[in-house]
Amino acid sequence: MDSVVSTELIYQTGFGNEFATEALAGALPKRGNSPQKAPHGLYAELLSGTAFTVPRETNRRSWLYRIRPSVVHEPFEQIENGLIRAAPFDNQPVPPNQMRWDPIPMPEAPTDFIDGLVTMMGGGDATSGTGLAVHLYTANTSMTDRFFYNADGEMLIVPQQGRLTLHTEMGVIDVAPNEIAVVQRGIKFRVDVPDGMSRGYVCENYGAALRLPSLGPIGSNGLANPRDFETPVAAFEDREGEFTLTCKMAGNMWSAKIYHSPMDVVAWHGNYAPYKYDLADFNVIGSISFDHPDPSIYTVLTSPSNSAGTANIDFVIFPPRWLVAEDTYRPPWYHRNVMSEFMGLIHGQYDGRKEGFVPGGCSLHNCMSPHGNDAEVYETASDAELQPHYIKDTMAFMFETSMVYKPTKFALETEYRQFDYSDCWQGLQKHFSG
Ligand code: FE2
Repeated sequence: MDSVVSTELIYQTGFGNEFATEALAGALPKRGNSPQKAPHGLYAELLSGTAFTVPRETNRRSWLYRIRPSVVHEPFEQIENGLIRAAPFDNQPVPPNQMRWDPIPMPEAPTDFIDGLVTMMGGGDATSGTGLAVHLYTANTSMTDRFFYNADGEMLIVPQQGRLTLHTEMGVIDVAPNEIAVVQRGIKFRVDVPDGMSRGYVCENYGAALRLPSLGPIGSNGLANPRDFETPVAAFEDREGEFTLTCKMAGNMWSAKIYHSPMDVVAWHGNYAPYKYDLADFNVIGSISFDHPDPSIYTVLTSPSNSAGTANIDFVIFPPRWLVAEDTYRPPWYHRNVMSEFMGLIHGQYDGRKEGFVPGGCSLHNCMSPHGNDAEVYETASDAELQPHYIKDTMAFMFETSMVYKPTKFALETEYRQFDYSDCWQGLQKHFSG
């Protein structure tokens, strides 16, 4: 029998909650996690996203009640990696140059979300639990009979054009541009592209799970609020056929035949589950006197490292907001940063750039590589009469990391790289008056 079952409620809200959800009444055991016989003839399966012994506040695991356990598939065989890479990358020099890229074009041949992944850069090591990789994706074809999981890291997906429907083991997530979704390490999913041509960014996190940053003196509210995160309720397929299960493991791609849909989790409970977030819900906090704070004030999610306050990844956004600071150079200051900065643009214009940084494009300002406004923005901003000003219709973001980003060979050599990027600063004039 082929069937797809879901409940009317699509999402449960909260971040890192202990969720409990069933698509079929009574499918969750009433007591215990692995009864001698689970209800409805289901198999109980534990999915551990952290070591068993991690402290309770950061421990992540879910119990899945499914039609068949995940172990039912043919052996994996290695397949072509395409343009997917994993850190550590090929042994090649890391240029200290500022870099920027145009958007990569949409594919002409049928291309699904996995085949359309292109790795741009990364750092750390996919097999050692620290670091990250940054990918771009373009897709025009849904993964109807193909499923995927990533053993190397969790995937923060940032659509830039076209909605995605993520059919995950825990339920269905619809995510549109200006929203993000996170699918954790090991969770199986397939991606539909309801709008056809689709493009976006993926931050693959090899390190500690993304979480909400501590708010310190800000207090108990602000920035991304927990109630605005949405996790799917249980939804399952009871579908048989000739399907493919693709896996990314230690940087390589593998595929196995599977004769049923692994989206067969009828009920689950736990706190290891994918989620989505609408960036429009971000509560922006900034200066109401002079100067502007470090961009960490715009952190949505963070993956901490073992060094306090130094992130493996900070996911930071530059959303619509009021600028009111007086006697202040309001755009981002010129700076150099021990942290490395990958930036993308979802829509609109970033206030630090007049042109060249376009939606779907990206830039890299690596560890200690200087950057700041181009000459035109500097002249305008430093002479502007300062009035309250609303920056609207924009959403740029940054994957900031304590790793040095190593660009891939593709990123360094592609024709979509703007090899003349540094020209934008050469018009900065000497104003020193002695
Ligand atoms: Fe920067």
